Amino acid sequence: MSAMIQIKNLRKEFGPIVAVDGVSFDTPKGEVLGFLGPNGAGKSTTMKMVTGFLPPTAGTAVVCGHDVLKDPIAVKASLGYLPEGAPLYGDMTPEGLYKFIAQVRGIPRPRRASAIDRVKSLVKLEGVMRQPIETLSKGYKRRVGLGQAILHDPPVLLLDEPTDGLDPNQKHDVRRLINEMAQEKAIILSTHILEEVDAVCTRAIVIARGRIVADGTPAELQARSVRHNAVRLRVRASADAVESELKQIATVAGVEREASANGVARCLVLAKPGAVIAGDVAGRVRAKGWAVEELVVEPGRLDDVFRDLTMSPSAGSRS
Ligand SMILES: Nc1ncnc2c1ncn2[C@@H]1O[C@H](COP(=O)(O)OP(=O)(O)OP(=O)(O)O)[C@@H](O)[C@H]1O
Ligand SMILES: [Mg+2]
Repeated sequence: MSAMIQIKNLRKEFGPIVAVDGVSFDTPKGEVLGFLGPNGAGKSTTMKMVTGFLPPTAGTAVVCGHDVLKDPIAVKASLGYLPEGAPLYGDMTPEGLYKFIAQVRGIPRPRRASAIDRVKSLVKLEGVMRQPIETLSKGYKRRVGLGQAILHDPPVLLLDEPTDGLDPNQKHDVRRLINEMAQEKAIILSTHILEEVDAVCTRAIVIARGRIVADGTPAELQARSVRHNAVRLRVRASADAVESELKQIATVAGVEREASANGVARCLVLAKPGAVIAGDVAGRVRAKGWAVEELVVEPGRLDDVFRDLTMSPSAGSRS
């Protein structure tokens, strides 16, 4: 299946600010792409250019075969967009808004009521459909915005921080909805919540200062963490003895001590790059006769990787 979204060398300058600096990638059907990056990295600006909301300074985007510069109407018809902050008409009710959007989206009149009903149950707006949007809570407003984006069941979705402001239950529901829709669509979502990347994304792109600094599956990104394959250990022994013993293992890069109490040492044993240390660590602990209370292999932490990628001086450095 060819890419449903092709982003080709997109660049956006706002006066002297280069908000997006040569971003290119393709998104095929079935992919949920997490767009990550610190505040001001250029995520929203990239999305706005893909939707045709902002003209690029250079480059272009092709959505379902339509070039946004040449055929912006066809691009807009192919996608649903949840803008940052989910701006909505506050004096409208969700029902009124959806009727209006259905009309603007060109959904044939006989199908409008069923399209609205479908979305109402997907984003769980039963009970508030006739309440002015400005009187709804933040989480409900976000869901109204998400419903607006999927009303015409588009093949491509661009969701700018779709779970921002939602409580944990609502976050879970929205992630499940994204997962359910994923197979038939290409979805790009931006987020600051790294656990979300694990929960819903099949691929993650990290952007810093307008440039892509990493692109891979969530597991590939996690594997770049210094804590990848580290062993979390709790044993009945003195922390000094544990540290000095485990540091001698050839595949161990270091030992991070954590608060120890009641004769139980807690630490994180770091692996040298590419090394698998769990067997070595377990063997040494057994040889010493220490009673093990916990021994867990860490997959790595996305927040470490995110920090390394976006804080290092060379990360997406501007020319
Ligand atoms: N209309 C505008 N005029 C001038 N500068 C802008 C405009 N829109 C965005 N910028 C600048 O472009 C850069 C990228 O902003 P953008 O909103 O794309 O970041 P973001 O990655 O979405 O950040 P956040 O995580 O905070 O939402 C920032 O420096 C921002 O100030
Ligand atoms: Mg943004």
